[in-house]
Amino acid sequence: MYKKIEQDINVPYPIYLVNNIYETVKRIENIKVKHRADLFLIYDKNLSVYYDKYINNIRSFCKSSLYIECKECNKNRETVDEIYKFLVDNNAKRNGIVICIGGGILGDLVGFVSGTYMRGIRYINIPTTMISQVDSSIGGKVGYNFNNLKNYIGMFYNPLEVIVCPEFLKTLKRKEILSGFGEIIKYCIIDRDELLIYFEKNIESIVNLEKDEIVLLVQKCILIKRDIVSKDFKDTGLRNVLNFGHTVGHAIEIDSNYKVSHGQSVSLGILVALKLSETLMSLDKTLYNKIKDIYTYIGIDKYYKINNKDNFIKSIRGDKKNDSNIRFVLISTLGKPVIAVKVKEEQLLKVIKESIEGEKIYE
Ligand SMILES: NC(=O)c1ccc[n+]([C@@H]2O[C@H](COP(=O)([O-])OP(=O)(O)OC[C@H]3O[C@@H](n4cnc5c(N)ncnc54)[C@H](O)[C@@H]3O)[C@@H](O)[C@H]2O)c1
Ligand SMILES: [Zn+2]
Repeated sequence: MYKKIEQDINVPYPIYLVNNIYETVKRIENIKVKHRADLFLIYDKNLSVYYDKYINNIRSFCKSSLYIECKECNKNRETVDEIYKFLVDNNAKRNGIVICIGGGILGDLVGFVSGTYMRGIRYINIPTTMISQVDSSIGGKVGYNFNNLKNYIGMFYNPLEVIVCPEFLKTLKRKEILSGFGEIIKYCIIDRDELLIYFEKNIESIVNLEKDEIVLLVQKCILIKRDIVSKDFKDTGLRNVLNFGHTVGHAIEIDSNYKVSHGQSVSLGILVALKLSETLMSLDKTLYNKIKDIYTYIGIDKYYKINNKDNFIKSIRGDKKNDSNIRFVLISTLGKPVIAVKVKEEQLLKVIKESIEGEKIYE
């Protein structure tokens, strides 16, 4: 049994929500039968610890397989080359299909390789983390980091299909689950109030990863992302709302040398964006407190101590050093994001002090 999320003109591939890992394996097997193509399996090394039996099963109907150690510091050109080499060595042709099983790092890397190998080879994305299921596997953004610049090399390239199996989430470390919650809270804020209401109402079951509530939550997030992407696939305007919390979030990731996860950094960035919204967009103060209370309940860190303020600001400003303003996505009220709001550096530093500045809590 699976649920198929309808295709859309700009998200022109099916997203299947499947019940369990056994069904995921069956779907992959069907792909082989349906397309009569060679399959090339690329998976996250950590998955072997929990899913060795399933991986061996999938391997049995793939031409060859490769595992990748998925760390943000490996999301680079060397790993991209390693995957190209694997495809070349195993004689992958343009009619082959790459099967990618892993989190956001692997999906971004394999998507990029698939989009460029022999000018494009089909790939199927099977996201196994919370972030990748609710966010990175939808929307076609693929790529890798260059020097200290996150996702600087990349393209838009869609998979043949996405298979989302929330059962994979059970083996995630707590830190990774919390990271996923960061992106989900982002959706709660930029989407009308329906998702936030659902999240609050089911918070206990969600935190305990109870199946029905998690499956519905994942599905709701996929639909929000799909709808935003479908209106602005190439990210020239509206899609920018997905960057809510990310301006400061990315700077925290870099400042902490990636010790603070993407989603945790975004969670902190969300608090800053909400405080800025109170000052600049007259946002009602209750939302900030509500979100902080949710963080406390689910265990998301609310404080961060910046290691290097100059570099922190530099990474936020990017190359726009001569502009005294920084552009932010803020909200005027719940579900009403506004893109490219100008914020002065002094304003930002003041708001960071009032919101997240405190001792670092990460290990
Ligand atoms: N393309 C996009 O639109 C987009 C959107 C958001 C994030 N991203 C990217 O996604 C990346 C973060 O993704 P992520 O949080 O999935 O990170 P990740 O891929 O590093 O996975 C996190 C950790 O979980 C492990 N893991 C994966 N699946 C597991 C499972 N089922 N059980 C146990 N452990 C498992 C991994 O080995 C890794 O250690 C970042 O590089 C970010 O830039 C991309
Ligand atoms: Zn993100």
